[in-house]
Amino acid sequence: MLKFDLLHTDPDSHARRGQLTLNHGVVQTPIFMPVGTYGTVKGVMPKSLHDMGAQIILGNTFHLWMRPGLDIMQSFGGLHKFEQWDKPILTDSGGFQVWSLGAMRKISEEGVKFASPVNGDKLFMSPEVSMQIQTILNSDIVMQLDECTPYWQGEKGSGHITTEAEARVSMELSRRWALRSKNEFERLGNPNALFGIVQGGMFEHLRQESLEALVEMDFPGYAVGGVSVGEPKELMLQIMAHTPHRLPAHKPRYLMGVGTPEDLVEGVAQGVDMFDCVMPTRNARNGTIFTRYGDLKIRNARHKADPQPLDSSCTCYACAGSSGVSWDDGGREGFSRAYLHHLDRCGEMLGPMLTTVHNLHYYLNLMREVRESLEAGQFSALRARFKSERARGV
Ligand code: GUN
Ligand code: ZN
Repeated sequence: MLKFDLLHTDPDSHARRGQLTLNHGVVQTPIFMPVGTYGTVKGVMPKSLHDMGAQIILGNTFHLWMRPGLDIMQSFGGLHKFEQWDKPILTDSGGFQVWSLGAMRKISEEGVKFASPVNGDKLFMSPEVSMQIQTILNSDIVMQLDECTPYWQGEKGSGHITTEAEARVSMELSRRWALRSKNEFERLGNPNALFGIVQGGMFEHLRQESLEALVEMDFPGYAVGGVSVGEPKELMLQIMAHTPHRLPAHKPRYLMGVGTPEDLVEGVAQGVDMFDCVMPTRNARNGTIFTRYGDLKIRNARHKADPQPLDSSCTCYACAGSSGVSWDDGGREGFSRAYLHHLDRCGEMLGPMLTTVHNLHYYLNLMREVRESLEAGQFSALRARFKSERARGV
């Protein structure tokens, strides 16, 4: 089941504040969804995710199909029990991951043939197979199988930018796969909610065609796919300004795989309700930290003896310890930049664990501030303040 209530709309942008009710709970939107590809948000205990205010996390059909496989998923009655997360889960269909296999796959009308990256077995993914797997996973939001149209065709360096004709062929395939996904989802009696995915490359009229066809199929929610696929930033912003607000107002809108904190705030202004991205978790493991005043690289020698926390305004466990009181509010329990720099230098596990907690907290808290500003009719002010603070630098 899925119910979406629009609570507030911003008069100065396409931004909305909503509430999404799913089988495993209620999600306040706009929302950022941490990525848990293999049934774990890397390095974070589910209890910490709860404490940070995560409301819904992702899982990945493709990866969980490879390992641990469907027999084990079935024996646990789905992903929730297996990974000990009782709130909502969204699973991506495998379309994007199969695409990432590059030369190892062969796409036809029927589906995608590929060799398992784990053991080389010959495997076949189709809209029907994706729906069967996601039904076993029992994710609250199921994604259609699509083909994520790349910005570049062929190998990097030797290829070319996707032409309109290529983008059309790809979009039309995704459109047919949308209908097959829907038919199979219904045939299986899946009690959750299936989202359609708008494709069309960088071509607005193709996106419009894709959108209209999906709206005709009447999905309970819609995603915008095929962004952040190697295109220049201006094109990403152009698609973000084109598609989301044209989707049905009374249904949730999900921008797939985006992005930086700036992209999230811009996406909200363009009418997006849901985001996911590996950026906060992956960057944390590489030592790139998001803060209110810009990004920080913990590996940099200038942090070697710095007693400050990562972000003096942050109340996460890394910055404020168990007290939950930020440095700006007088708390002094957080871990120092010097300590996190040291953990990184020594390759200690606690380093990426703490930086991941911080980065996820930053993203989740940013979305909380966005929601509160929408409730107070102050989104434009928040957007302006956010931009100037982030540009200030740490
Ligand atoms: N993740 C990021 N972009 C996409 C996309 O276009 N399709 C799917 N299925 N997943 C994505
Ligand atoms: Zn923090």
